[in-house]
Amino acid sequence: MNGGLTYLWSHFEVHLDKLIKKFYMLKNKKLRILSGIQPSGALHLGNYFGMMSRMIHYQNQHQLFCFIANYHALTTLPKKDELSKNTFNAVCDFLALGLDPDKSTFWVQSDVPQVTELTWILSSLTNVGLMERATSYKDKVSQGINPNVGLFSYPVLMAADILCFDAAIVPVGKDQKQHLEIARDIVLRFNNLFGETLVLPEPEIEANTQLVPGVDGRKMSKSYQNTISIFADEKNIRKQIMSIITDNTPIDEPKDKSSPLFQIYSLFLDDDKKFDLEQRYDGKGLRYGDIKVELYEKMMNYFEPFRERRNFYLGNKDKVREILHLGAGKAREIAGNVLDRVRSSIGINY
Ligand code: TRP
Repeated sequence: MNGGLTYLWSHFEVHLDKLIKKFYMLKNKKLRILSGIQPSGALHLGNYFGMMSRMIHYQNQHQLFCFIANYHALTTLPKKDELSKNTFNAVCDFLALGLDPDKSTFWVQSDVPQVTELTWILSSLTNVGLMERATSYKDKVSQGINPNVGLFSYPVLMAADILCFDAAIVPVGKDQKQHLEIARDIVLRFNNLFGETLVLPEPEIEANTQLVPGVDGRKMSKSYQNTISIFADEKNIRKQIMSIITDNTPIDEPKDKSSPLFQIYSLFLDDDKKFDLEQRYDGKGLRYGDIKVELYEKMMNYFEPFRERRNFYLGNKDKVREILHLGAGKAREIAGNVLDRVRSSIGINY
């Protein structure tokens, strides 16, 4: 029995050692973290609290690679002025929210042609069946969309985005998990056929970040039209906040803390303030209308400095273009090296 215990303990120690090593590496090694966002219109609380704030935070400890995926947006063939304006606005949103182009690499996808070159190469070793299994593609088709080839091979372009930069970690929402798996499949196949060439990326799914409910209680998402916009004009933001659904619990009864109003308000509160709100929800006399007005004021104050910075960038287009020009330059250099490696692995050299 003693022997068994000793064995167990030493087993545990080995395990612990591995864990510590892993933790140590994660803590001290600068990882290459990459993610992109489609320029799809007005930025909302779900975008910010779900993914963007987390990504921006990474610029302090890691090598952050961040881009606006305008070629992905093209697969839905938006109006040309809209696509162009949304792309520029998405850039200003990121800069306003604190993305620092000196600490990170920040660019617009279409400014790095190596990505679309790699897309073609990867397309040639990706089976049609792999694309046909993509649920987001199947969903769109089942909604009656007449799919174009770009939409079909969307995951290959996304794989190229990641693989062109040897990214180690890719923070994405749950809805993108399968696309990451496809990227990993492509890497394994490539390396298996042509030797170790591409870096296998790890997804980082938003399990620990807050899930932001929309005004109707479902996940906040543009496609549900239940968003609260961050930079819309005051009247619209007020209207969106006032439309958050509430129940009809009488004033003198405790209120439901799992409700969207409570959850959304909590995003802006520290632990003490959240505790106060909980007390008010558990007590009597709380009026939802008052809470909504408070939330509106809190949110406007919270984003005020961001709004000012955003207006600065919107008014200084040349400055923004210069930032993007430098970012694209840095990105192209890295992507160029990866592409040289890929080309010689597969015989596109002579
Ligand atoms: N498809 C992603 C989305 O819609 C955006 C995206 C494009 C992306 N390329 C990427 C995310 C590469 C991570 C890595 O959310």
